[in-house]
Amino acid sequence: MNPLPAAYLEQFGEPSGYLEFASTGPVSHRVREAVAAALEVVACPPGNASQAIAARLETAAAAMSRLVGVAPHRVTAVPTTSAGIFQVAFGLLGRPGNVVIPAHEFPANVYPWLRAEEAGGPEVRRVSCPDYRVTPERLAPAVDAETLVLAVSLVDFITGFRVDVEALRLAFPAPLLVVDAIQGLGAVGATLEPADVLVAGGQKWLRAGWGSGLMAVGERALERLAPTLTGWCGVERFMDFGVAAPHGALGTAHRFQEGSPPYFGALQLGAAVEVIELAGIAAIEGAVLERAAAMEEAVRRAGGEVLDPWRQRSERAGIVSFRLPAEDPAATVSRLTDAGLVAARRSGWVRVSPHASTPPETAARLREALRASDGD
Ligand SMILES: Cc1ncc(COP(=O)(O)O)c(C=O)c1O
Repeated sequence: MNPLPAAYLEQFGEPSGYLEFASTGPVSHRVREAVAAALEVVACPPGNASQAIAARLETAAAAMSRLVGVAPHRVTAVPTTSAGIFQVAFGLLGRPGNVVIPAHEFPANVYPWLRAEEAGGPEVRRVSCPDYRVTPERLAPAVDAETLVLAVSLVDFITGFRVDVEALRLAFPAPLLVVDAIQGLGAVGATLEPADVLVAGGQKWLRAGWGSGLMAVGERALERLAPTLTGWCGVERFMDFGVAAPHGALGTAHRFQEGSPPYFGALQLGAAVEVIELAGIAAIEGAVLERAAAMEEAVRRAGGEVLDPWRQRSERAGIVSFRLPAEDPAATVSRLTDAGLVAARRSGWVRVSPHASTPPETAARLREALRASDGD
């Protein structure tokens, strides 16, 4: 595998033992600079502050649209993954039918559907996936002619299982397919197609920092979702205050704004995408998969049990969860901390999540730290 370009790697300065990208991805120099420059503009605006950063916002929007393979009007900045999913869920209020989600989804892909159900939205069907494999066969018993939405994580936050979005689309062509891509986008390639909505916060693998995120929306979703949470910035001629509200909702992804868009977050994400482009998402994905496979091997060689629902490379991303025989995961995490390795405990497992900038040697450090548990 070719090494990643120095121009990309030089952007990052996190400690070499940082293995918590599934929680929070340390940001690049370029993201820091983008935020600092934007703060400078709002601190000392040369004129109207929002006009002064308008061109940068356009550049950022273009970067976001390149990342997920859509035209700029099909993508909008959101402050969190949840914000985008809430927009979709509340866009279905009053519609009879159901929404199907895997039962082990991260709560950001659960609460919006439950809150919408309580407010008169579709019934929520949670499908148990005991082997953590989110496949058409597993979801099929819950999907029927009344299913309005199928909502899945691109990559599961504990097992790292990566869903075959294309297979879901082919198996279930009628419902809207909503993808929470936060645990994948930035580590692996993902486009809006073949889904109808793709939402991802920027704080993890995209390395854009909190308060950033994107929501990409296809034509069918725009047609089917009501503008329930569309606010003053999501409408036609929004600055035309002489015409009483409501104005017509925009026919673009910008309809999904409740108020002023998250300008800083958009600039963070734009900068983060430009950093991804220094290496290319394919090269980053290759490096992430290599690092994750090395972590898995390190765990196995140290006698650990890996939570491994995947059967092939395409079902994997950057997350590996494991446990050691007869050791409490909390004790394992704290021992790793002592060895300078930052890991997490999730549902009885220890989770490590390296990125492309993680030095390959970190896998050997993990192995050593784990072997130290049995005096080896
Ligand atoms: C699958 C998944 N979705 C969403 C989130 C976060 O959601 P939000 O960006 O709304 O905080 C996380 C983790 O924090 C996650 O693992």
